[in-house]
Amino acid sequence: ADDGYRLWLKYDLIQDAAQRKAYLNAAKFIAVSGNGPVLQSAARELQQGLKGLLGQAVPMASAQGKSGGIILSVEPTANDSGGALGKEGYRISTDKNNIKITGKTEAGVLYGAFALLRQLQTRQPLEKIALASTPKIEYRMLNHWDNPDGTVERGYAGSSIWKWYELPERVDPRYRDYARANASIGINGVVINNVNASARYLTAEYLQKVAAVANVMRPYGIRVYMSVLWAAPKTIGGLTTSDPLDPKVRQWWTDRTNDIYKAIPDFGGFLVKANSEGEPGPQDYGRNHADGANMLAEALGSHDGIVMWRAFVYKANSNGDRFKEAYEEFKPLDGKFAPKVLVQVKNGPIDFQSREPFHPLFGAMPKTPLVLEVQITQEYLGFATHLVYEAPLFKECLDSDTYSKGKGSTVAKVVDGTVDQHRISGIAGVANIGSDRNWTGHPMGQANWYAFGRLAWDHELSSQAIAEEWTRMTITTEPKSVRTIADLMVKSRDIYVRYTTPLGLHHIMGESVHYGPQPWLAKAGRPDWTAVYYHKADAQGLGFDRTATGSNALSLYAPEVQKQWGNPQTCALDYLLWFHHVGWKQPLSTGRTLWDELCYRYYTGTDSVTWMQKQWAQVKPNVDPELFANVEGRLQKQYKEAVWWRDACVLYFQTLAQQPIPKPFSPPT
Ligand code: GCU
Repeated sequence: ADDGYRLWLKYDLIQDAAQRKAYLNAAKFIAVSGNGPVLQSAARELQQGLKGLLGQAVPMASAQGKSGGIILSVEPTANDSGGALGKEGYRISTDKNNIKITGKTEAGVLYGAFALLRQLQTRQPLEKIALASTPKIEYRMLNHWDNPDGTVERGYAGSSIWKWYELPERVDPRYRDYARANASIGINGVVINNVNASARYLTAEYLQKVAAVANVMRPYGIRVYMSVLWAAPKTIGGLTTSDPLDPKVRQWWTDRTNDIYKAIPDFGGFLVKANSEGEPGPQDYGRNHADGANMLAEALGSHDGIVMWRAFVYKANSNGDRFKEAYEEFKPLDGKFAPKVLVQVKNGPIDFQSREPFHPLFGAMPKTPLVLEVQITQEYLGFATHLVYEAPLFKECLDSDTYSKGKGSTVAKVVDGTVDQHRISGIAGVANIGSDRNWTGHPMGQANWYAFGRLAWDHELSSQAIAEEWTRMTITTEPKSVRTIADLMVKSRDIYVRYTTPLGLHHIMGESVHYGPQPWLAKAGRPDWTAVYYHKADAQGLGFDRTATGSNALSLYAPEVQKQWGNPQTCALDYLLWFHHVGWKQPLSTGRTLWDELCYRYYTGTDSVTWMQKQWAQVKPNVDPELFANVEGRLQKQYKEAVWWRDACVLYFQTLAQQPIPKPFSPPT
């Protein structure tokens, strides 16, 4: 039975003997020129993978005078037509009847080795193989929201995989499997702790632990980063202030940074959540985000590290539209950040909702490299119960046009640095990984980890292609089942949106836990944590007017984008209630009134979960029984909860709309 531990790196024996024979002919030996640790990982992975897939060990050998093998070689000066291969790219070519994997660095070769294994795992031919690929984004990061006590903020797959109480003496072998999985999809950086950070990681005791983790990551081309608590100079440093302009504070951070690099010579840098949701920050001392970020950049000095400063901020006592707050705080600071600083921006302006318009900061800070932060863990997407494949959500943001430098200035191109010619670029995904045997709780959640990595490497890949590739590697290679599963995956996100927050509704989920519906929520810690603040339902209609007659948040976007969303008659229905308060009886482009359309989406969305169950039932003969039953059970739960969402929302909104539920939908019983 398949317990999911091996993720997409399954390497099960290829059943088709002819295919196996063809692969064996091309993989008679593995030759490695050089012996660096990352290269060793590449060779080891190939050995492990080929042995599993082909059913026999492939020997390590010298390539001298031989053919029909795989050669791994680092070629720093390889002519790669204008440097297109970059420092982490790979090339797989056929050379004198051998398959040659080259890169300018060991990491490039490692990525090439995984790419070659992927060819076998997805049953592609190896004859005359010619592949080359280079990551479009430099810092491809997972952000763990893991705490020292082993809990994971917004984690739904058990507790943290990091066992701080065992480290550094005991190093869980699982860390290596984690590193392999990340390297296989090109992730090269890991922030090991929660953005709501504990200062503990900066202590000598914890540095040893973090260093032990870094030692496992290093041979896989992965660097370790830390989230830092702004108040650390006070809480653990014995200082009376954490003012970034205070010389003692600056010295303290410089000393700590030097300590870190002594323990972890390839340390990646810092991630900071400051002056957000009650976290301390430079504003506590009348300084701004740039003062804070630049102080840390200075502490990094000549070390090869970066600062990722988060733009997820909203003021403690704001009565404005939260949609605008990050923009208002950060836009004026464009051009004020030190070269080592990247500003990390969530995909949307509120908070990882099932669908958000792209964040207005993208395209608005041309002088600052912006990291795109997406959430892989399903905080607002049904935790580990609902099957929601996230690639379409990530792609929707990446493909959005900001028009900042004219048509085609997509978020992807802002982030990868091409629009504004940045030297550094980054993308971050909040991890969905935990101590569960299968890593992600919902087995299909593995696909979201996978898709994030693949898109971080190449944002031009399609959601469909990634779904098919992952399915082949993870579930089955039987063609019809692959199509059925990939189709179900690609449609799943839209289905989720329909039965939870159709037409641009947002933030109507359960208070604090962020699970299930609570559209009636009117009182919480602050007004913009309630649901009624966001949906603004009243006797007239529904939705948040963000045009000039309302909060005018729409004005933060380029004129072309304002045009696209500004008119309720022409605004895409998926975004309608993000920007407009629409009358219940207002006819929409579908021919239905707003009320009828709302019901239509809640009902058909819920019915679509039944469709998902039927699709899944069809693939049963080609899926491991344990995996099949796991997903089947979760889909049953998902249906029940779709009904819950539908009925809660339709009945609540009906109290205001005072309209009957349209035929053919039966009123909830
Ligand atoms: C969300 C989430 C918090 C998290 C925050 C962040 O609001 O619910 O748990 O800390 O995002 O991204 O900082």
